[in-house]
Amino acid sequence: MSEAVRSTRSAAASSHVEAAASYRQTGRTASGRRIQLEARGLKKSYFKAGHEIPVLRGVNLTVQQGEFLAVIGQSGSGKSTLLHLLATLDGADAGEVWLDGMRIDNLPRRRRDALRNRKLGMIFQFYHLLPELTALENVLAPLMIAHGLWSWLRHRRSHVQNARRLLEQVGLGQRWQHLPRELSGGEMQRTAIARALAPGPAVLLADEPTGNLDQHTGAEIMQLLRSLNRQHGLTIVMVTHDLANAQQAHRVVRLVEGRIESA
Ligand SMILES: Nc1ncnc2c1ncn2[C@@H]1O[C@H](COP(=O)(O)OP(=O)(O)O)[C@@H](O)[C@H]1O
Ligand SMILES: [Mg+2]
Repeated sequence: MSEAVRSTRSAAASSHVEAAASYRQTGRTASGRRIQLEARGLKKSYFKAGHEIPVLRGVNLTVQQGEFLAVIGQSGSGKSTLLHLLATLDGADAGEVWLDGMRIDNLPRRRRDALRNRKLGMIFQFYHLLPELTALENVLAPLMIAHGLWSWLRHRRSHVQNARRLLEQVGLGQRWQHLPRELSGGEMQRTAIARALAPGPAVLLADEPTGNLDQHTGAEIMQLLRSLNRQHGLTIVMVTHDLANAQQAHRVVRLVEGRIESA
């Protein structure tokens, strides 16, 4: 190894160590931004008919406050699995998930559920709206769960106002009384985005949010996500197999053989 390479490598290694030490002391990265969401050494296997299917083999990922991060990977590479672990919807075999400086994957279930409802918004490829509820009622549902029935009833007017404002913000001001089946795919995803934003989450986790939409509608949804990130500082982690969409994020990483590589 040449001296130049050796000194560059050791400088890189020491700056990494310094960055890690600085984060441990301050919770901030070298750029001064706060770390909002972090995966440390996440491992996850599924077992099927007695066979182990290793999916995540030690995922380390750091997401800064206000960042729009895209995770790309082929179908079956474990993107949804990773997002579910970040959202604490599923448990890892090993590793930790940290949100705003607190480890969240090992919290008691009720606290974890409450924290997820309040701080982690999720959107999915197939929207997952409740079919019997209008767009407005879908957006109100997480607020009802987060506040409990009595508190929700007491503050119903302000919750409804807030939900109407969110639907307007995502471009659905005129559609709030529609049922999901009376909405287009893009409108359903907009409703799902408004629902995810209703409790005022710290992070939006998006699983292939344009995967079921035509190119034009998908581009509109990407534009909406970008503007939520830019104008409201919303931290977004989006997993996708679509490189063109991923490139609209601030940073793209790739999930390959169960680990994160920079793309
Ligand atoms: N509940 C499950 N049981 C068994 N295998 C699963 C389960 N969920 C996902 N897998 C497998 O884990 C791998 C990763 O799945 P997934 O995270 O959905 O990938 P991606 O979202 O990147 O397409 C795939 O091989 C999939 O078949
Ligand atoms: Mg998936």
